[in-house]
Amino acid sequence: MARCLAGRSSPAVFSRCTPHLESPSRHAVVPCAASLSTPRISETEASAPESSALVQGGTAPLVCALKSTASQDVSCFHFPGHSRGKAAPPSLSELIGLGAFSHDLPELPELDDLFSPKGVILDAQRRAAELFGSSKTWFLVNGTTCGIQASVMATCSPGDYLIVPRNCHISVISALVLSGAVPKYIIPEYNSGWDIAGGVTPLQVDEAVKELEEDGKRVGAVLVTSPTYHGVCSNVQGIVSVCHPRGIPVIVDEAHGAHFRFHDSLPSTAVEQGADLAVQSTHKVLCSLTQSSMLHMAGDLVDVDKISQCLQLLQSSSPSYLLLSSLDAARDQLSKNANIFDEPLAIASETRGQLMKIPGISVLDLPCFASDFPAIDPLRITLSASDLQLAGHEADDLLFEDHKIVSELVGTQAVTFAVSLGTRVRKTLRSLWNL
Ligand SMILES: Cc1ncc(COP(=O)(O)O)c(C=O)c1O
Repeated sequence: MARCLAGRSSPAVFSRCTPHLESPSRHAVVPCAASLSTPRISETEASAPESSALVQGGTAPLVCALKSTASQDVSCFHFPGHSRGKAAPPSLSELIGLGAFSHDLPELPELDDLFSPKGVILDAQRRAAELFGSSKTWFLVNGTTCGIQASVMATCSPGDYLIVPRNCHISVISALVLSGAVPKYIIPEYNSGWDIAGGVTPLQVDEAVKELEEDGKRVGAVLVTSPTYHGVCSNVQGIVSVCHPRGIPVIVDEAHGAHFRFHDSLPSTAVEQGADLAVQSTHKVLCSLTQSSMLHMAGDLVDVDKISQCLQLLQSSSPSYLLLSSLDAARDQLSKNANIFDEPLAIASETRGQLMKIPGISVLDLPCFASDFPAIDPLRITLSASDLQLAGHEADDLLFEDHKIVSELVGTQAVTFAVSLGTRVRKTLRSLWNL
């Protein structure tokens, strides 16, 4: 968006940024009058002309477009200043390669515009929506954090109530500040032996809604974290049944559940259960670059344009194409490999079984909670060695120092390991485990 210089008043400022489609040639300079006066924050995709011309072939349109732009033999007078790698700082290019720099491109016409997508980004987002089962998907370059903030801002006006678990992620707290919504906290079940919280139940949500209704308060939305960091899933379908008859949208912080759609033995996704908005950290269990996430929408309770506008407010006007194309690539990787989670699931199941045989070691599972939570992510393994008088951080230190094992999360009583598509079994264990 920086290329549009939106907000500057001088009509002498030119840019190639809009209108993309009318640019007569690759090197034409087109006045950007519209973008000088009004930011494109209010544009809707519905009114945008479909651009089949810009939709690339291949199975990952954004990756293809990045590749083809980077391979052009052109004289560059655009940002970033490393100029497609020519002045890449050697200490970093030696580490990550020149390719990362030559593909670190700005919003060139053929690369579309994240905040008014009509070409390759629109195509890539539509493919993601189809794969993830949503009616619309947005690519995010500021993590699930900005997706949660946008979801709350788009559903809650100042003074509205947001029903939310007391242990929600910090991004929900900043969303409350940004939106002016008031929290109505519900307390998730807590297992003190593990020092770990579970999910929330439809009954808790129902009670909170009724309490607010009796007080004449307006509920803007209900937000639940499902799965939790430890993999505990809430009954999103039940929560939706409480909310939808009252016209209340359900937002799911699904940061840790982006992989759920890709194997029958994984829990069902928030969108499959009827949630209106689900925000997923594609960069967690799936394989996009850190900071890249997706926001999925379903149903018609939430205003599409409001979400787009809030996302533009919250994100950089210079979104990284490396991050964006990594989302496209991650989606492409999943769409080509139907059995991609077979092996991680087998590894996790075997590991869980082996751990449970070790005296003094316990593994977190659904019976650790009294509530009837529907599922726990089989790829999240949380162990406790408290019966061996080891606190979580002591067990973690021991595993790192003696075995070079690096965990995902350390608690006072437990250590959590994330099994993902990149998890491999050492050759020596393969035959032993029948993998
Ligand atoms: C439950 C939960 N929600 C949201 C987030 C924010 O995700 P991101 O890091 O993609 O912004 C996190 C990050 O760890 C998280 O654990």
